[in-house]
Amino acid sequence: MRLMRRLPPWGNDMLIYAHRGYSANYPENTLSAFEAALPYVDGIELDVQLSKDGRLVVIHDETVDRTTNGTGWVKDMTLQELRQLKIDGYERIPTLEEVLGLIERSNVTLNIELKTDQYAYPGIERLAWLAVNEFELGDRVVFSSFNRETLVRMRDVAPVARLAVLTLTGESDTVSFAETIRAEAIHAQPAFIGSKAWDQIQQTTIETRLYTINDVKDLPPITVSAIMTDEVERFTK
Ligand code: G3P
Ligand code: CA
Repeated sequence: MRLMRRLPPWGNDMLIYAHRGYSANYPENTLSAFEAALPYVDGIELDVQLSKDGRLVVIHDETVDRTTNGTGWVKDMTLQELRQLKIDGYERIPTLEEVLGLIERSNVTLNIELKTDQYAYPGIERLAWLAVNEFELGDRVVFSSFNRETLVRMRDVAPVARLAVLTLTGESDTVSFAETIRAEAIHAQPAFIGSKAWDQIQQTTIETRLYTINDVKDLPPITVSAIMTDEVERFTK
């Protein structure tokens, strides 16, 4: 007898990305948060900044104050200095290469958000693309940013890279900009649905991925390509 497979209420088509790893249960943007998310998700989202000595490090804020036992700007600290800091007493700030090593051994998609909102971090686009290619993960990595200049530079550096435009609720030119840089997706907050940009995206093949949805009741009334969540087990398929 063939057993019926139970579908989650949101169907099988909507992909689940772990936002900063399994950040509801583990310290955000750490190797333990990424490892813990892997069994449950289709993708992992993380944030990347650049150290003083030009190393790609995985941390959300421009300073280390909120998430580590240190203080100061990421851009003013060397990798060695950053690695001495503790997160929750035992974790360290990962390098992007460490996470790529983990992703290489899995089958999930990695969404690298280039955190260039306060500092442009000159050269970050090329460094990130080189790192991803070192692991031959170009097909499984999507680069996103709120900074449009970063995305334009990323497209220049990497004609075949997968790109996504990050927005809050969708400025009126979001879709045309996405088309200009050949982005595959727009990453937006749930209020994006129903916006003018939302209407425009229906006329294209550009995907919509929503952040950050932590409760099933907050799922959009319409299926989107993917959601990002801190609460990955609530969305287990
Ligand atoms: O990439 C989606 C989301 O992560 C953007 O906002 O502040 O959580 O990095 P934030
Ligand atoms: Ca992010």
